[in-house]
Amino acid sequence: MLCGNFKVACFVFHRASLESTVRAALLRSPAVALVGPRQVGKTTLGRSLLDAGSPNYFDLEDPQVEAQLAAPLTALKDLQGLVVIDEVQLAPNLFKVLRVLIDRPGNPAHFLLLGSASPTLLRQSSESLAGRIEVIETAGFTLDEVGTAATARLWWRGGFPRSFGAASDAASSIWRREFIRTTVERDLPQLGMGAPAPAIFRFWSMLAHYHGQTWNAAEPARSLGVNESTVRRYLDWLTQAFLVRQLQPWFVNFGKRQVKAPKVYVRDPGLLHALLGIDGADALARHPKSGASWEGFALEQVLRIAQPDEAYFWATHAGAELDLLMFKDGRRVGVEFKRTDAPLLTPSMRTALADLALDALYVVYPGERRYRLHERVEAVPLWAVLPAPDRGQSRR
Ligand SMILES: Nc1ncnc2c1ncn2[C@@H]1O[C@H](COP(=O)(O)OP(=O)(O)O)[C@@H](O)[C@H]1O
Ligand SMILES: [Mg+2]
Repeated sequence: MLCGNFKVACFVFHRASLESTVRAALLRSPAVALVGPRQVGKTTLGRSLLDAGSPNYFDLEDPQVEAQLAAPLTALKDLQGLVVIDEVQLAPNLFKVLRVLIDRPGNPAHFLLLGSASPTLLRQSSESLAGRIEVIETAGFTLDEVGTAATARLWWRGGFPRSFGAASDAASSIWRREFIRTTVERDLPQLGMGAPAPAIFRFWSMLAHYHGQTWNAAEPARSLGVNESTVRRYLDWLTQAFLVRQLQPWFVNFGKRQVKAPKVYVRDPGLLHALLGIDGADALARHPKSGASWEGFALEQVLRIAQPDEAYFWATHAGAELDLLMFKDGRRVGVEFKRTDAPLLTPSMRTALADLALDALYVVYPGERRYRLHERVEAVPLWAVLPAPDRGQSRR
């Protein structure tokens, strides 16, 4: 198959776990919102859930559809089964109508709303459809989707399907640079980020240099010539657009002074590399940010796959720290990311185990072997965090 005008073979990954998450949510709730950055595959997934040629797909970016949905009750009231409404953030008033439709006795329709990372979408939906909607967050491909044989490629190119699947590294870099350009020039302002495109670009590039570090507003504020609350707002915008992750610190009240600012990460490693001007896998291996990039990549994969209820980092001024503290189903699991060949147990890990009362601590590293460092501490390869059936398999 050829992909559009590009003379390259098309590849399509079946995103089985995302699809089953969405299907399960649709069985439980009359409305499901699938949100994430632009270009991660929301439309592709939403359409795949409908029969070919189904009239139940509405793309609000299409002016004709927008006109049709200007009278939403008329347009939607007779539809049955799954109805997919794409780019729903463009019609925030629709949520009130959806509520009316959902609350009809014997309502025959359920709604999948797709949104490009809009804070407006989340606010509107939670207010108007409270108790009726589930929000599912998505992003680019994960390791369990592309298979562990493609780990290096996923790290270097990132998970956006068009970047990951580009015909060459150069084509992947060009796609990501273009994505960044349209994001700062069009999408973020459209989402309401009221700052000039060059300032957003400089800020995002600066964040790439802070990747994996605790956030300090003073330096970016000085260098952009704005005040600290303005750069704080920029950070929150990029976070709400799912492009940046803020990992908040965990506090334990027993006297040790602890670090208060969040850690910041550029979520997609491919975008991180484009922002840092790293133009190839060799350049990445030599780059001073290489370790931080790998740790951020591993962190994002672990969070996507583990789906914890809550996630933090932990650090004390005395020097003990933990890269990731996850709470899931009443368990406390710690994760350290170590880009070394054979991680060892460190005093900081012992402190974290004791002070945080961890049930388990995993040391994720780029090696192949899984081994125990302590009764509750295990060194594990990145692939070992995958759900069991997918381990070690490549679906390419
Ligand atoms: N599972 C997939 N496998 C391969 N390519 C995909 C997959 N999902 C999406 N794509 C490609 O990625 C691009 C963006 O997909 P799209 O569904 O339009 O994203 P979104 O709706 O999130 O903006 C398209 O070119 C699409 O063909
Ligand atoms: Mg789309």
